Amino acid sequence: MKKIAIFTSGGDSPGMNACIRAVVRTGIYHKCNVMGIMHGYEGMIDGEFIELETKSVANIIQRGGTILKTARSKRFMTQEGMKQAYDNLVKFGIEGVIAIGGNGTFTGAKEFNSLYKIPFIGIPGTIDNDLAGTDYTIGFDSAINTVINAVDKIRDTAESHDRLFFVEVMGRDAGLIALKSGIGVGAESILIPETKTDLNRLFERLERGRKSKSSKIIIVAEGDEEGGAFEIARKVKEKFTQYDTRVSILGHMQRGGSPTCNDRVLASRLGFNAVEALLKGKNGVMVGVINNEIVFTDFGKAIKHIDEIDSEVIRMLEILSL
Ligand code: F6P
Repeated sequence: MKKIAIFTSGGDSPGMNACIRAVVRTGIYHKCNVMGIMHGYEGMIDGEFIELETKSVANIIQRGGTILKTARSKRFMTQEGMKQAYDNLVKFGIEGVIAIGGNGTFTGAKEFNSLYKIPFIGIPGTIDNDLAGTDYTIGFDSAINTVINAVDKIRDTAESHDRLFFVEVMGRDAGLIALKSGIGVGAESILIPETKTDLNRLFERLERGRKSKSSKIIIVAEGDEEGGAFEIARKVKEKFTQYDTRVSILGHMQRGGSPTCNDRVLASRLGFNAVEALLKGKNGVMVGVINNEIVFTDFGKAIKHIDEIDSEVIRMLEILSL
């Protein structure tokens, strides 16, 4: 293989730049030309291809976002869009493609793979950590650290005013950001889409802890079935008029900022291994790390994230937050 391409797609995540750097430098080491495709699948369809050199990726390991930009492409989900993308890959002489993204990215790659012969390797890049085939996705560690920094500040003011705060974090289908950051901030309760939210139980817990604690933090994943933080706060306020409640939606700040060291190292390992795998002939798989070992998982399996949450973790949380 003499020419490969790299792109980022879906929601951006801290560490994507570190991964682009690893892909470009590993490709160049193996005497490959590496092209960047701007704006994900949209740029593939529109022919937005650029040459990447060693110095194009200098001083980006510490930067959030993605220098290649990103998009959620509806056009790539159509046969015409895919055909146009394929024609551009052929036109630019691309012999293999590396995609950094999440569920939507690999769903598109799987479909493309079944129609066209250009090999594709995926790298998990999403703050949600909702892919099978890897313990962590690039950006998750940075996002949970951003959340705990924000919630620690919220705790200061909550404690001063004896308030109950509902903090909404990202994850429309997955509660892993909520779960891990919630444990990290000592949240009184964590509401996630993977487990049934029982408001009566929440009311009981709040009632029990009312006298013993002055501040309370409830972390709500945006995808929780009882509604977002505002809706849940409204229901609690109806029941407990005495509580002084506030809501804070952390939003897109969770997707930005400099990646943590863990994310930079993960991104570098995955980028490096993706190129070597592509050059060795692998195709249609996502590279991940499980128990510190590099593993490859078919796109079809990688997108089937298992929703099960370890019940021991939930039990521990309930005991620690009493
Ligand atoms: O990339 C994942 C994610 O941040 C989810 O946690 C969130 O629900 C979604 O993207 C938001 O996407 P957008 O920025 O396109 O509104």
